[in-house]
Amino acid sequence: MREHGFFSRTNRVGWTSAIGLALLTIIAALVAFAWLPSAQADYRAQGLWDSICRAAGVPARWLEGSPRKDSADVVATNVVLLPAMARTASPASVGRGATLALNCTMCHGALGLSRSDAPNLAGQYPEVIRKQMLDYQSGKRTSAIMAALARNLTEENIADLAAYYASLPKARTAPTTYDETLPALVRVGDPMRNIAPCISCHGGIDQKLGAPWLEGMPKPYLVQQLEDFKHGQRKNDGQQQMRNVARPMTAQEIDSVAGFYARKALPGHH
Ligand code: HEC
Ligand code: HEC
Repeated sequence: MREHGFFSRTNRVGWTSAIGLALLTIIAALVAFAWLPSAQADYRAQGLWDSICRAAGVPARWLEGSPRKDSADVVATNVVLLPAMARTASPASVGRGATLALNCTMCHGALGLSRSDAPNLAGQYPEVIRKQMLDYQSGKRTSAIMAALARNLTEENIADLAAYYASLPKARTAPTTYDETLPALVRVGDPMRNIAPCISCHGGIDQKLGAPWLEGMPKPYLVQQLEDFKHGQRKNDGQQQMRNVARPMTAQEIDSVAGFYARKALPGHH
């Protein structure tokens, strides 16, 4: 009898800890599989799934095309940037673009220089305008205003608008050229934190296809975009170039590089 009682008691203890363990496992699994990927879906989920799959011996390739909830988010953009998108367009295309742009002047200014805090479009690289418009259309870049405006445009309309805006003179801002007075993050980045220098993509050393002209943009707009990249609210950068740059930046650094690019200087000056 005593023995029986003893055993049933340990059994009960055993069951309690087994249930506790099961609960812990479930919670841990929920955190690992559901919460972490959704909280940090834009950059961690892929790697997390990859390591889970590698550990479990499942080829990561199997995941491609699987109907995971966030699978749409893993693809940053549907736009494939082609060098041809950056070529000078025909005068006819510019003319059609000018007519279509009458719907845009309210916010982007009569000559593509915004007087509100919308981005300037004057002199913007045509492939940038095309990519961003297509991303608004597909929802890869989110803006209620721009999604509504992009919805009814054809790809040709968008190419014409890009041609028109690219043909307009830029704000009176000097391009950034390399010199020792440039802010450190702009000039050399911060290798310790994996921040590549802005001028290696945005002009100064190199202008990468699809990297926007930033000089003379409204400062609040630049701050907002950097904050959005930092927190993953904007994630239409194809290779996560901008999310990787902005993630380690402090609010103060964002404010200072935005101030640098927002400068309004005459050509030949900084
Ligand atoms: C009611 C105001 C408004 C109108 C009208 C408008 N835009 Fe915009 N546009 C904005 C705002 C605000 C943003 C920034 C949105 C964001 O944060 O993504 C923007 C962003 C953009 C961008 C991205 C620029 C960049 O540097 O990344 C492009 C390109 C653009 N608009 C083109 C157009 C075109 C072309 C039209 C006309 C068909 C148009 N917009 C009409 C307010 C407007
Ligand atoms: C590795 C290349 C690269 C580096 C380095 C880089 N950028 Fe970018 N940046 C891009 C690309 C590409 C885009 C366009 C992303 C997209 O397709 O939407 C972009 C977009 C931006 C935008 C949004 C502009 C707009 O009008 O939509 C801002 C602001 C910006 N970068 C600021 C910076 C600053 C400031 C730095 C340096 C601290 C920097 N970038 C470094 C490649 C880079």
